[in-house]
Amino acid sequence: MKALCWEGVNKIAVERVPDPQILNDQDAILKVTLTTTCGSDLHLINGFVPTMQAGDVMGHEFMGEIVEVGPGVRRRKVGERVVVTSFIGCGRCWYCTHDLWSLCDNTNPNWDLEQTALGFESGGVFGYSHAMGGFKGSHSEYIRIPFADYGTFPVPDGVGDLDALYASDAAPTGWMGAHLGGVKPGDVVAVWGAGGVGQMAARAAQILGADQVIVIDRLPERLAMAERYMDTETIDYSRTDVQAELRERTGGRGPDVCIEAVGMEATTAPDGQYAYAMVKQRLRMPKERPTALREAIYACRKGGSVFVLGVFGGMVDNFPLGVLMNKGLTVSGAQQHGQRYVPMLLKRMASGELSTRHLATHEMPLDEAPRGYDLFKHKKDGCVRVAFRPHA
Ligand SMILES: NC(=O)c1ccc[n+]([C@@H]2O[C@H](COP(=O)([O-])OP(=O)(O)OC[C@H]3O[C@@H](n4cnc5c(N)ncnc54)[C@H](O)[C@@H]3O)[C@@H](O)[C@H]2O)c1
Ligand SMILES: [Zn+2]
Ligand SMILES: [Zn+2]
Repeated sequence: MKALCWEGVNKIAVERVPDPQILNDQDAILKVTLTTTCGSDLHLINGFVPTMQAGDVMGHEFMGEIVEVGPGVRRRKVGERVVVTSFIGCGRCWYCTHDLWSLCDNTNPNWDLEQTALGFESGGVFGYSHAMGGFKGSHSEYIRIPFADYGTFPVPDGVGDLDALYASDAAPTGWMGAHLGGVKPGDVVAVWGAGGVGQMAARAAQILGADQVIVIDRLPERLAMAERYMDTETIDYSRTDVQAELRERTGGRGPDVCIEAVGMEATTAPDGQYAYAMVKQRLRMPKERPTALREAIYACRKGGSVFVLGVFGGMVDNFPLGVLMNKGLTVSGAQQHGQRYVPMLLKRMASGELSTRHLATHEMPLDEAPRGYDLFKHKKDGCVRVAFRPHA
């Protein structure tokens, strides 16, 4: 079958790879009908995630049709149209039964690699390095889904493919940021990053009752999207002093909840801090540029909450611990616990309360995926997300 493979830093190609097979009783095989780019894939392409190997199939946000089930699959059947969460959960361990699905104890066969890097192991995830399980990704015609009973969700008839697709990763991730970040009715919420994840966090904050939601980015087309589809306020950080502007718009207090949806490759208006961070990242010293996170910590109101959705992989530099401590902030983060949120999100999509299709600014056959990633990585042509059709 065809699949998009990682071949090295900034090298990806559509290749022929073996068809997937049922390996365990609880596996299903999915015919992938739609699979999309995610900001996390850029960290792979740009070489910031270790333990990728040439030939690895990329992709973790997808939907499709079940074409085969193992003898241990109880809840799913062949022919069902389902969306699949990016993290794989066994459904039975302590973490899965406490709704902390991305921390599953049983789905990362390469747990020792992650132990070495981070001192713990997470659950496995599709198409995202050997340390995170070495699972083949969804940018392919077919994919093996372990623990299919827990990670696949039937899509209601009224929900279109381009909505259901983003119930895989962007929508539950955004929802988790607002929910675990503690957004309450009446809150002021600021979101750094107007990509798919940031936009979904902003929408979740609104649905959870926030009075004022402010989205921060520098890309005008993304800010316009947040205004048009979610009616949020926006700030262009390349033209504005974000700290001063947030104080101004919040009666001097700062947002109650700050959600970081940017991650380790943040940019800023070019100042000394950014140049310093870039040099260190190029030298692979501390690799990450936590500029949006730092800004969120400085901007948050005293005693407020900062939630980190953007992906970081290890050590960060220039982290304002003294601000966090003295200001009484709660700072937390997580990889998405999709299984907890997807059924609820699909219901909201079915009722029309939540829509994601506008994120798919580009659609194309999987054969054109390298072009799609070029648009997505360089934010050309207003690209927010590219949806690939492997069977087009
Ligand atoms: N926690 C999870 O489970 C999870 C799931 C999906 C994605 N992610 C991560 O979330 C992040 C966002 O994903 P995405 O798909 O929306 O990515 P994206 O690349 O489409 O969007 C990132 C946005 O951040 C903006 N940005 C860069 N620097 C900024 C700054 N200093 N201030 C404000 N905005 C800034 C960029 O202009 C861009 O619009 C990535 O790090 C991704 O890896 C995490
Ligand atoms: Zn993702
Ligand atoms: Zn588990």
